[in-house]
Amino acid sequence: MLTIIIAEAELECVPPALMRHPSVAAKGGKRTVLLDSSFHHRAMQSLPDAYRRGRPDIVHLCLLNALESPRNKEGGLRVFVHTRNDEVIRIDPTWRVPKAYHRFVGLMEQLFAERVIRVGGTVLLSLEKKRLADLVREEAGTAPVQVMHAEGAPYRHQEDAVVVIGGFPHGDFSIPLPYPRYSIYKDELVAWSVLNHVLYGGT
Ligand SMILES: C[S@@+](CC[C@H](N)C(=O)[O-])C[C@H]1O[C@@H](n2cnc3c(N)ncnc32)[C@H](O)[C@@H]1O
Repeated sequence: MLTIIIAEAELECVPPALMRHPSVAAKGGKRTVLLDSSFHHRAMQSLPDAYRRGRPDIVHLCLLNALESPRNKEGGLRVFVHTRNDEVIRIDPTWRVPKAYHRFVGLMEQLFAERVIRVGGTVLLSLEKKRLADLVREEAGTAPVQVMHAEGAPYRHQEDAVVVIGGFPHGDFSIPLPYPRYSIYKDELVAWSVLNHVLYGGT
């Protein structure tokens, strides 16, 4: 069983201080609005790390690729999303990720508001507070942990590994991850390209 953690993903709600900004308020007075740099670019400028925040699209593309993969359909994959605010999304492998971005955003807003998304008796998504280091330790147990990084040893596929991929567009992990780093290419790649490489056994 392969486990993929999309780590420090730039998935968060608009901070309360920005809710009155015109680019946010335009969303019809909703209480929970997902931060999206495409729409909230001007409102975000006062935020620390503004250059990398507000990127739900990265999570959307990673989850579409992961959950629609043959590996997932065969029951060989677990995927977690860890966010910059140390929240972890647990994902049922049968969840059909909305193809349309606006529907994905709506569902994430519902998840942040209600902490759980159920269909029938099945919990498809749930949200809990958890630090990345704790998530990796708990999910790995005795399995190897591989941190994907442009500057690392050549990637070697391990079927039972926990693989950590940054869910951010720029910069680096904010905490030191005390595990071996593996690279698949000399330059930086987008997260979903790295995820697909790992999913298909490093080919
Ligand atoms: C767009 S990158 C973030 C940019 C970051 N400065 C970096 O070093 O890759 C998102 C994530 O994809 C993974 N990644 C990017 N390029 C990679 C490469 N050449 N080999 C392995 N993983 C890579 C890393 O986990 C990284 O955190």
